[in-house]
Amino acid sequence: MDAKTYFDSHAQGYDKERVSGPVGMLVTKERGNVLALLDPKKGEDILDAGCGSGYYSVILKEKGAKPFGVDFSEKMVKELKTKGIPGEVANLESFNLKKKFDKIVCGGALEFTTRPEAALKSMASHLKEGGTLVLVYPRKSLAGFAYRLFHRTHGVRIHLFTKKGMQTLLEQAGMEELKTVKSDPLTNVVLAEKK
Ligand SMILES: C[S@@+](CC[C@H](N)C(=O)[O-])C[C@H]1O[C@@H](n2cnc3c(N)ncnc32)[C@H](O)[C@@H]1O
Repeated sequence: MDAKTYFDSHAQGYDKERVSGPVGMLVTKERGNVLALLDPKKGEDILDAGCGSGYYSVILKEKGAKPFGVDFSEKMVKELKTKGIPGEVANLESFNLKKKFDKIVCGGALEFTTRPEAALKSMASHLKEGGTLVLVYPRKSLAGFAYRLFHRTHGVRIHLFTKKGMQTLLEQAGMEELKTVKSDPLTNVVLAEKK
């Protein structure tokens, strides 16, 4: 199974999943870290890259920002639109919305791309100068290897990253890492700025 088929089959109510038990506690902490670094403000244009069914977009809209979602799963984008949030079906590695955003949030999507370096370059090209990206990614760690194995069992390949490797990828995409928060044994949340 490829990642798109996997996420198509999980689209309904995806934003409500992963909120209970010990995993739920880690996800809740991760999401808090993302929103603290993103610091969404009223009127800001914010791209939700790999938006899924719209977990972050819904919160951004409630805060008065103007979210726009991109995801390669038609079913995820359909779910997003039922919440009154605009979006487009596109691959993060090659999308072009012909618009620049104040901020981008990318929560848990980069590891599923085939070419993360291409996805980061496409995201950077959608940021205004001085605009910020908040990105969640899984580390090369024991928990990361278990996470990779979990996805292998249903045929989905994912990438793991080191902090240094991510700094290099961000640099190559024309962005600078400003801060990295180690959210839990699996996940880093990084704040980067477009140079
Ligand atoms: C783990 S989900 C996270 C969804 C949402 N950001 C959240 O926090 O609930 C990852 C999402 O990234 C999307 N995705 C993965 N690879 C992608 C790609 N190459 N282009 C566009 N979307 C992609 C998937 O379809 C899925 O909806």
